[in-house]
Amino acid sequence: MTDSTGQRPPIQLFVPKFRTDETLEEIRETLERGWTGMGFKTVEIEKAWSDYTGLPHSHFLNSNTSGLHLAFDVLKSRHGWVDGDEIITTPLTFVSTNHAILYTGLTPVFADIDDMLCLDPESVLERITDRTRAVIFVGIGGNVGQYDRIRDICRERGLKLILDAAHMAGTRVEGRHVGHDADVTVFSFQAVKNLPTGDSGMICFADAEDDAKARRLSWLGISSDTYARTTGAGSYKWRYEVEELGYKYNGNSVMAAMALVALKYLDEDNARRREICDLYDRYLEGQPGIVRVPMAPGTEPSRHLYQVLIEDRDETILKLNARGVAPGVHYRDNSAYSLYQPYAGNTPRAAEASEKLLSLPLHMSLTDDDVAYVAEQLIAVVSG
Ligand SMILES: Cc1ncc(COP(=O)(O)O)c(C=O)c1O
Repeated sequence: MTDSTGQRPPIQLFVPKFRTDETLEEIRETLERGWTGMGFKTVEIEKAWSDYTGLPHSHFLNSNTSGLHLAFDVLKSRHGWVDGDEIITTPLTFVSTNHAILYTGLTPVFADIDDMLCLDPESVLERITDRTRAVIFVGIGGNVGQYDRIRDICRERGLKLILDAAHMAGTRVEGRHVGHDADVTVFSFQAVKNLPTGDSGMICFADAEDDAKARRLSWLGISSDTYARTTGAGSYKWRYEVEELGYKYNGNSVMAAMALVALKYLDEDNARRREICDLYDRYLEGQPGIVRVPMAPGTEPSRHLYQVLIEDRDETILKLNARGVAPGVHYRDNSAYSLYQPYAGNTPRAAEASEKLLSLPLHMSLTDDDVAYVAEQLIAVVSG
């Protein structure tokens, strides 16, 4: 597509699509009612999300990062984990995944990735020690990878399983939304995710008591339940109890209003994402020097990302920028960051991917012609 000067505007990596009028109408309700905080629309989105995913407990938060912190915090305190206990994780993720382990005084142990860029079960098995308490699985780009095998390992070894589903809103396996067999699943509804708001997320615990604790902790540890139990429901509600040191991680009604509208279009948008990815696949298949990242077979991935591996990635990005294409990189091997160097392990595939990965533009405003243009430019740069 060209603009009025005949120029093709740069094709961006991510451009969120908001149904503006519908979203403003939903937000208007919160303003007119005078209720923009927690409650009202946050209750509605929690119900809508549970209905959509089939997950029994959904708690709306201000981000996925907060949710990951809560996930470790709740599991640590409810299961008697102590500082320094080990969590097996991937080095190829956004740092939120691993920061959450450190926030909680736990130790990240990096396992390597497979060709789908997700945790490799064999590498996970090699990392298990008597201090291992859990595995956190990241479904990069909406990919399920070898999640089932990791889940089975966790069950056999008595480990908890946390699913960082930041990219997985709408990913299904055999018709079922992901998350139903994890101890806790955390989604991101950040501004450029498949279900975009400004910033928000959802935490979904399998266990009702874990969920109840997460709800208290996301609201500064405030519990009216204890007081209600002793005084009878409804009386002296202002005299709530604070039993534990919580955080201010709750979501609000303005973000929830945005999420309620975006949720209506999630399946439609993800279907278009898959169509775009199929087009990229068709153009790039068999092209020398371009390795496509496979999706787990037989699944319906949300396709948050379309990733390829190429040599000279950094140079290629600059050349693509000059041709009006703005790709991205997801992600740098976390163990290369100075904060994580003390935890660096033997993860050669993640280190290699970190140097070669490139994410191509993928969003709702791309035309088929844009996709063809991006693929053409990539092929030209890589073969040139
Ligand atoms: C894999 C992964 N985990 C966690 C997060 C954090 O999500 P949020 O921005 O909602 O905190 C992101 C966001 O980019 C992510 O990509």
